[in-house]
Parts: sequence; C-alpha cells; structure tokens
Amino acid sequence: MTEMQYRRCGRSGVLLPEISLGLWHNFGGNADVSVCRGMIARAMELGICHFDLADNYGPPPGSAEECFGRLLQQDFAAHRDEMFISTKAGHLMWPGPYGDWGSRKHLLAGLDQSLRRMKLDYVDVFYSHRPDPHTPLEETIGALVQAVRSGKALYVGLSKYSPAQFNRACEMLREEKVPCLLHQFRYNLLDRACETTALPEVEEQQTGSIVFSPLAQGMLTGKYLKGMPGDSRAAATDSVFLDADKVAADQARVAALQQIADNAGLSLTQLALRWLLRRREITSVLIGARTVAQLEECASASGQPPLPQDVLDAIDALN
Ligand SMILES: NC(=O)c1ccc[n+]([C@@H]2O[C@H](COP(=O)([O-])OP(=O)(O)OC[C@H]3O[C@@H](n4cnc5c(N)ncnc54)[C@H](OP(=O)(O)O)[C@@H]3O)[C@@H](O)[C@H]2O)c1
Repeated sequence: MTEMQYRRCGRSGVLLPEISLGLWHNFGGNADVSVCRGMIARAMELGICHFDLADNYGPPPGSAEECFGRLLQQDFAAHRDEMFISTKAGHLMWPGPYGDWGSRKHLLAGLDQSLRRMKLDYVDVFYSHRPDPHTPLEETIGALVQAVRSGKALYVGLSKYSPAQFNRACEMLREEKVPCLLHQFRYNLLDRACETTALPEVEEQQTGSIVFSPLAQGMLTGKYLKGMPGDSRAAATDSVFLDADKVAADQARVAALQQIADNAGLSLTQLALRWLLRRREITSVLIGARTVAQLEECASASGQPPLPQDVLDAIDALN
C-alpha cells in the first residue's frame, strides 16, 4: 500500500488526504456498526482523516451522523484533533417551512441538530449543501459566516453551486473574512460536466475542491458488467439514486472504460480514481466505500504515478 498523500486546500492552511471518506449511504440505519467502526479505524490508519457527512445522510436522514457520533464518542474521542469532519445543511430534514433549503433559520438550526447527533462542539467544515433559488444569497452566506463566528464551524464550504453563484458567494465570504474552503461537486469518468463549470471557478477563486461519486456510485468498479450483485447499492430497495435502469443506461460506456483499464493492467476502480487525481485543482476525491476492503482498494490510488498519456487519450476518445 502506498502512503496517503495530502494536498493543500486552495490558499488555506488545511491539508486534506487525496482520498476522503463520505458517509452518505454506508453509515445509515441498516449499516453494520462493527463494519462502520472498522472503516473509521482503518481509514485513520491509512491516513484518510477527512470524514464527510450531511444532516440528511442515512437512510433514514440523520442516522449516519448518529452512528458516526456514537462511534466517535465510544472509540475515537481521543483522535478528534486528528480528524477533519464536515457536515452540510440545505436538503429536506424536517416538516414545515423551515426544514429545507438555504434560509438562516434552516441552516443554523440544521447545524445545531448535526452537532447534537454527532456529539461534537464544532465541525471542521459546514457546507451549504445546495444553492437555494428563492433565498437571497446574502442570507445563506450570512448563516455560514455566523456558523464560523459562533465557533460551531472552523471553515465553510459550498456544494453544487453554479459558476456564477459560486463566484458571488466566494466574493461575499471573502468580504466577511471567512473565505470559502471547499467547493464540493460530482466528477467521474461518466460525468465530466465540472471540467467546464466548477473546475475553472475553483482555480479562479483559489479554493479547494472535493469531488463526490468518483466511482459513479459503484458503476465505475465494473461490478455491474456481469449482472446485479445482491449486496450492491443498485440492488438495495432503499437506494433512490441508483437502480437497475440507471446502471443499464451507462453499461456500454462502462464496458468501454473497463476495456481501457484491462489494456492498462489496472482495475477500473484504480483507473477511475487515479484519473481524477491527475487534476491538481482537485484537493480530495470523496469515496463512499461500504466495506474495509473497498476502502483499502480506494486508498491505494493515492501516491501512484500519473496515468500514461495513451490511457488518458483513450479515455478522451470515448467522449
Ligand atoms: N454534496 C453532495 O450533494 C453529495 C452527493 C453525493 C455524494 N456526496 C458525498 O460523496 C461521498 C461519496 O459518494 P458515493 O457514495 O456516490 O461515492 P462512490 O465511491 O462513487 O460510490 C460508493 C459505492 O461504490 C462502491 N464501491 C466503492 N469502492 C469500491 C470498491 N473498491 N470496490 C467495489 N465497489 C466499491 C460501493 O458500492 P456497493 O454498495 O454497491 O458495494 C459504494 O457503496 C458520499 O458519501 C458523500 O459524502 C455528496
């Protein structure tokens, strides 16, 4: 196993591991707590010190933060300062007009609820999980600033903002002397949209960036090429973001990528992660491994030599 490499988050003092662990689907109500404990422990051993959460991660919403918080308190409390923990608010969490989106009311109540579930005094990063078309950006940004000034977050981040929204938000945050630490958005071999949207803006604003669904929720491991594994995310009845139809729609492209990986003597997982790490604007690749073995395979993508040019060209030729 190569040693985990760290990258600086924009112009900040923060270093993040090239591979970070997200808790979107793997720490919820149905997860095996002993596997979750093992994943945190192994992640820390491997140098994966950044854990990415959100209030709505589970399912059900809130359960990933509860599971993580319990484990932190029981087994990892002495390691809090070695960890970089993020959470987010901005998706539906509770009924009524204040349970969703980007108002000051929702974001600050959401952060308080997250801190209670995780049994933490503060998070390292608090994100606006998505832009809100109906709330003035000033209000959303004001809530992020307040989260830092109140000591409940050390840094702030933005997720899934358009280039114009991201630029404006970064300007507002800089004016308040609470610079944006990180932009979080999707990037993988099947979805390269951010190459012309988020990535140029991250460079321009000199923030960090962290990319999610690097394996397209598992499709870019090649696991669906031979059928539907029973324990996979697409087979899970509570998975609303990946199902057999979505898998089928991308199957031909995944098969072509698998061929490129085979020709290069790499697993498709390694190809997918190392391809993302070729971009220096990316601070960290946010994986959603569900088992220790998956985590280990993903971690080993850090510290590898750049992919050969002919492999990069073959990938580009598919678009
Ligand atoms: N800001 C946002 O709006 C947003 C949105 C989505 C995600 N995120 C963040 O990004 C994180 C990662 O997203 P993601 O879960 O979609 O990432 P992903 O790494 O693309 O997908 C994770 C899934 O891939 C499979 N997998 C991972 N490593 C594997 C390996 N080595 N071998 C075989 N299968 C492997 C597992 O599928 P099986 O379960 O089928 O085994 C796992 O559930 C989330 O946890 C969250 O923190 C943020």
